[in-house]
Amino acid sequence: MNFQHLMPECDLFFGENTLSEVGRITKEWGDNILLVTGKNSMRELGFLDEALESIEKEGLRCTLYDEVEPNPRVDIVDQGIEVARKNGCDVIIALGGGSSIDTAKAIAVGVAHFPQSGGTIWSFVDTGDKGRKIGGITSKTLPIVAVTSTSGTGSHVTPFCVVTQVLTHEKIGFSSKYMFPKASVVDLRIVSKMSRSLTAATGIDVLTHATESFLGRGQHPSADLFSLKAINLVAENLPKVCENGGNMEARSNMAFADTLAGWTITLAGTILGHALVHPISGYYNSAHGAALSAITPYIWNFLIECNNQKILDKFVYIAQALGERVSLPGTKDKAKMAVNVLEALLEKIGLTKKLSDYGVDKSMIEILAKDALRYGIVDLDRTPVKVTLKDLIGILQESI
Ligand code: NZQ
Ligand code: MN
Repeated sequence: MNFQHLMPECDLFFGENTLSEVGRITKEWGDNILLVTGKNSMRELGFLDEALESIEKEGLRCTLYDEVEPNPRVDIVDQGIEVARKNGCDVIIALGGGSSIDTAKAIAVGVAHFPQSGGTIWSFVDTGDKGRKIGGITSKTLPIVAVTSTSGTGSHVTPFCVVTQVLTHEKIGFSSKYMFPKASVVDLRIVSKMSRSLTAATGIDVLTHATESFLGRGQHPSADLFSLKAINLVAENLPKVCENGGNMEARSNMAFADTLAGWTITLAGTILGHALVHPISGYYNSAHGAALSAITPYIWNFLIECNNQKILDKFVYIAQALGERVSLPGTKDKAKMAVNVLEALLEKIGLTKKLSDYGVDKSMIEILAKDALRYGIVDLDRTPVKVTLKDLIGILQESI
């Protein structure tokens, strides 16, 4: 065995009513907060008021920045950086899904690294065609406290951040251990308020994190452990939460699966699916998990058809974790059992749309595939087989 377990420290508060602790938790990291959230859900559900109350109770200052929309935009991040700077904020709280948490991470980086106003977070993003050096994010990054409101991206326990440049339709991730939240809050009352469709799409995001990192090139014993458990939890609990959003035991299991899958991508990364999905959301503003659900069955089929023994064996483990009775050695037929379970799961949770249902037009396939090759290179390098432009085009053609 040969591996590195590089997991930044993060205090995790998981359970019901943990949001009421957010003021106390944040106090350790700063006393002048920028609270980053979306435009509607957290306010409408009363969780924004709860957070503000907890902050006030600790006597902390707080500026609200509630401009985040799904697939967070670079201009909204840059504007948030200015708001934080103007108010002298020294800690950032995110209250929301992956979009709010990623915006908070990006603002935390920008405030600390741009000496004057006018900088853009895009300067930390590797677009793959400008020979730009990745990195440059330092320990000056402001501390981040993440309260997750979805069970999907794992962003409350990852060093990643994904932002969209609207003008060029580029949606690109970047990473730094300094963006790993100092503390994370999972309050089951919040995630239990997700609608059925949001629950389904974010649940599939969890499943793809667990399966992609498991299938990836890197052999990582701790990541594999987290992945298989997360796959199993999703298979057993995602249909339950989609059927009854108030099933708190199943919600708790999905929130835990989200956290495990966040750790697994921190340790072992994502692969092909995440390389392909970002350009799709970049052009069509489609929800991340929903777009993943349209392409993942075809990605699994593609990997199985490569007929690589190691990959086929891994699909047997995935099928087992999904609840199938099957054993090694892997064969194509056994591996396809995993695809069948995935398709049945998607059907059960109402996620049977094709890419065309999200607006993707056939004429765009080559452009999307080329973008994936250009800026999804880290994910493609981790994919266990070599992936060509033709392969990417083929997968998109099937998913449309
Ligand atoms: O915008 P508001 O009004 O807040 O409403 C949101 C939004 O409209 C709503 N919502 C969130 N929590 C809710 C809720 N509605 C009711 N009840 C709740 N508890 O749901 C909508 C979607 O929110 P969003 O934050 O966009 O969803 P998600 O958590 O799926 O985040 C997706 C973003 O995270 C990125 C994705 O690419 C995408 O941009 N990812 C981040 C990763 C990371 N940083 O590690 C890894 C992932 O692979 C992913 O790429
Ligand atoms: Mn994802």
